[in-house]
Amino acid sequence: MKVIVTGGAGFIGSALIRYLIKECGCTVLNLDKLTYAGNLDNLKEVDADERYSFVQCDICDAEKVAQIFNDFAPDTIMHLAAESHVDRSIDAPLEFVRTNVMGTANLLHCALNYYSQLPEEKKEQFRFQHISTDEVYGSLGKDGYFTESTPYDPRSPYSASKASSDHMVRAWGHTFKLPVLLSNCSNNYGPYHFPEKLIPLIILNALDGKPLPIYGKGDNVRDWLFVEDHARALWLINRKGVPGETYNIGGNSERTNLEVVEECCKILDELVPKAESYSKQITFVSDRPGHDLRYAIDASKLKRDLGWEPQITFSEGLRATVKWYLDNSWWWKPIREKNYAGERLGKGK
Ligand code: NAD
Ligand code: TYD
Repeated sequence: MKVIVTGGAGFIGSALIRYLIKECGCTVLNLDKLTYAGNLDNLKEVDADERYSFVQCDICDAEKVAQIFNDFAPDTIMHLAAESHVDRSIDAPLEFVRTNVMGTANLLHCALNYYSQLPEEKKEQFRFQHISTDEVYGSLGKDGYFTESTPYDPRSPYSASKASSDHMVRAWGHTFKLPVLLSNCSNNYGPYHFPEKLIPLIILNALDGKPLPIYGKGDNVRDWLFVEDHARALWLINRKGVPGETYNIGGNSERTNLEVVEECCKILDELVPKAESYSKQITFVSDRPGHDLRYAIDASKLKRDLGWEPQITFSEGLRATVKWYLDNSWWWKPIREKNYAGERLGKGK
């Protein structure tokens, strides 16, 4: 299978490409603009493979995207390119509208032109797969879960732009009969996670002896999924999912932010002990504006229809992640020195 992965130099896209190259025998073209979040070091494990290639491209660039479709002639496309950080969407929302909404619409437009001229047998296997987030559903109280039929209620510029892109994808599926697939996934974590997101930020700040910032009281809840479990789910959906359908993906691992940070500290205390526990560095800071209280996914459709379940528990995955950061300072040191040193983002006006 020839697969275009957009956003393949990012956290989840690179995990997906590693999986497609190493375990699925695919030929992959990574289409990525290389924003601050894109990093070709994430592909070091596969970039010498002749089945892997990279092209630097903005998904908003209609001419270049059309050219790439024609030259590479993909059997399927998996769309992950996005601005992905809620805090940055508070500081610079329009970049999120540009990439997540306009970029997705442009990609759909180019994909439809390409799809329309495919022979019937190629059309049958082609999919436009859109990778989205559980944040489009809004915020839960203490109880309940997001299902595929939960009404959309996005509340940050990030989640509003992702919700909007989901609507675009469904519109192209409904109106133009483009064979689309959607999935909405909970918070991912794992290796190569850009250290602006909670878990890698905490690990690296802890090692640097810096404060571990917790927004508000730390009682917001997220449902955590190891990134490799997400990659497996995505390829399964691409090959076995029913066009037009949406699948929720979740880790069944709800934790408050404070619990997550304390668990990181406990693992670090064990692996790299020092006089005082890392938990002494925990600092409560002002809350994120509009901070969603709780996300929790009901992933039973994906289990029932396609047989997917997470294979890695949160405690296994978190330990593996902490160990990975301890062993791979070559990856994160240049990012912390040149790109993003861990300063507070998204405080609002
Ligand atoms: P990321 O920020 O790590 O990576 C995004 C990638 O997209 C980067 O490589 C970046 O260079 C690229 N990109 C950004 N703008 C682009 C543009 N205009 N043209 C081409 N490439 C561009 O993000 P991630 O965490 O890997 O998330 C990937 C996808 O999964 C996103 O669509 C996100 O909404 C979704 N998602 C993420 C999570 C999560 O927990 N991280 C959960 C559910 C869904
Ligand atoms: P984040 O990793 O930004 O993912 P998302 O906002 O998409 O869920 O944040 C996860 C949770 O951690 C979220 O509730 C915000 C919180 N958080 C902190 O408490 N401190 C921080 O420094 C960061 C980056 C996030």
